[in-house]
Amino acid sequence: MARANARRVVTLEIQRFNPEIDSAPHQQSFQVEADPSDRVLDLLNRIKWFQDGTLAFRRSCGQGICGSDAMCINGRNRLACKVLVKNLGEHISVRPLPGFRVIKDLVVDLRPFFQHYIEVMPYLINDERPPATERLQSPEERARYDDTTKCILCAACTGACPPFWANGRFIGPAALVNAHRFIFDSRDRGRAERLAILNQRFGAWGCRDVGNCTEACPRGIQVQDAIDQCKRAILAELT
Ligand code: SF4
Ligand code: FES
Repeated sequence: MARANARRVVTLEIQRFNPEIDSAPHQQSFQVEADPSDRVLDLLNRIKWFQDGTLAFRRSCGQGICGSDAMCINGRNRLACKVLVKNLGEHISVRPLPGFRVIKDLVVDLRPFFQHYIEVMPYLINDERPPATERLQSPEERARYDDTTKCILCAACTGACPPFWANGRFIGPAALVNAHRFIFDSRDRGRAERLAILNQRFGAWGCRDVGNCTEACPRGIQVQDAIDQCKRAILAELT
């Protein structure tokens, strides 16, 4: 009987696309030996280093911190460095994040994603004279936006969002999470301006409460809840 923790061969079905030679994406299979402790990122690295150096994907930290390696693994958007192969079975499908233009293989064009992020002014706005030491905040005030500080801008949520797939003008869940992070920060003075930005058809109202975003987030952020809080703030303060 095979040992559960034995090294085994798994098949990765990877979506390939090279715009210089392909007219459309296609699937390519790779057989790779995997240890139970391997992550999908380890297998992608092994394929790139020892089987096909042309395979393109993003990665950096390998520790779930940088957000570079979000991709669609067995139908769910996840970080390749956070998914253990032993939890996926012997056939693993790997595709680029849905909803974005594919540049090559698993690398997508994230410029629209970061453009929407910039639109919500994701920085502290406060023109008041700063105190001699620091802008104090109570533990309760800090806790108000703690969840949304955890965002690593991986785009897994926005790439799982049907309203964003349907219309890329919708700013998407990640931008809304990062708006929330400052709207509910007691030190910030840009709240009204940010709520006005969100109070548009392709702002917070572009969200249709599908909820894929929360399920996709590798940081466990309650994305849908944060969006709903922004909507309620708009209704309470702008209407
Ligand atoms: Fe990634 Fe979560 Fe931030 Fe969305 S909210 S970009 S899924 S970390
Ligand atoms: Fe940085 Fe996965 S490589 S989050």
